[in-house]
Amino acid sequence: MRKKIVAGNWKMNTLPAEGVELAKGVARGKGEVCDCVNFIVCPPFTHLSSVIESLKGTGVAVGAQDCATEVKGAYTGEVSAQMIAALGCEYVILGHSERRQYYGETSETLNKKMERAFENNLKPIYCVGENLEEREAERHFDVVKAQIEEVVFNLSEEQFAKLVIAYEPVWAIGTGKTATAEQAEEIHAFIREVLRSKFGAAADDCAILYGGSCKPSNAGEIFSKPNVDGGLIGGAALKADDFLAIGKAF
Ligand code: PGA
Repeated sequence: MRKKIVAGNWKMNTLPAEGVELAKGVARGKGEVCDCVNFIVCPPFTHLSSVIESLKGTGVAVGAQDCATEVKGAYTGEVSAQMIAALGCEYVILGHSERRQYYGETSETLNKKMERAFENNLKPIYCVGENLEEREAERHFDVVKAQIEEVVFNLSEEQFAKLVIAYEPVWAIGTGKTATAEQAEEIHAFIREVLRSKFGAAADDCAILYGGSCKPSNAGEIFSKPNVDGGLIGGAALKADDFLAIGKAF
């Protein structure tokens, strides 16, 4: 049985005290959701420490939204994987489309970040997905395949076993426009096939999350598909009730 995961990507939202309140709200309501659902929250760097503290013993895991390509040293403004891990983070989001689009992250960058993450026992949530132009040109399968081959295929079997993948079509992120459950299933099944060509049966254990305007009203249908193992949630992760309701959609 694959893990069911509902992960919240808070992006550059919430002030530290608000973040702690939001995290506590998730922890408080978690008892009403099936134990089978693994909740992860990914706050900004500035409140990782206080959120981790407030979630101790609740079973809600914490992830960072990014990490540096380098180990340590003269890289002003960067936050290393080792720093994140030292706080008690379990996960790190890598390759989010906003990082690829606004900060020029490439497969080369992401290969380094993956290495840093694994060196520090962080489990990466690796994001893939096509933009609108690529979808309209029916190139989405090729784009996603390349994003996986260029990065995930460099992992060892042991590393791959710790990886979570998030498929997030860029045209659905923050736009209110969700992929249909059928579109999600089609590409999730494709991703699993690509993974199987490299990692064999281990591909069946890899959680593949859907992301892009996922909310309580559409999560149930999307999560009912056999190759969708949960969601990476942006906007709807900023309200504890909505985030929890997405967990209940399983
Ligand atoms: P959204 O963001 O749910 O607000 O569309 C998802 C994401 O970018 O991870």
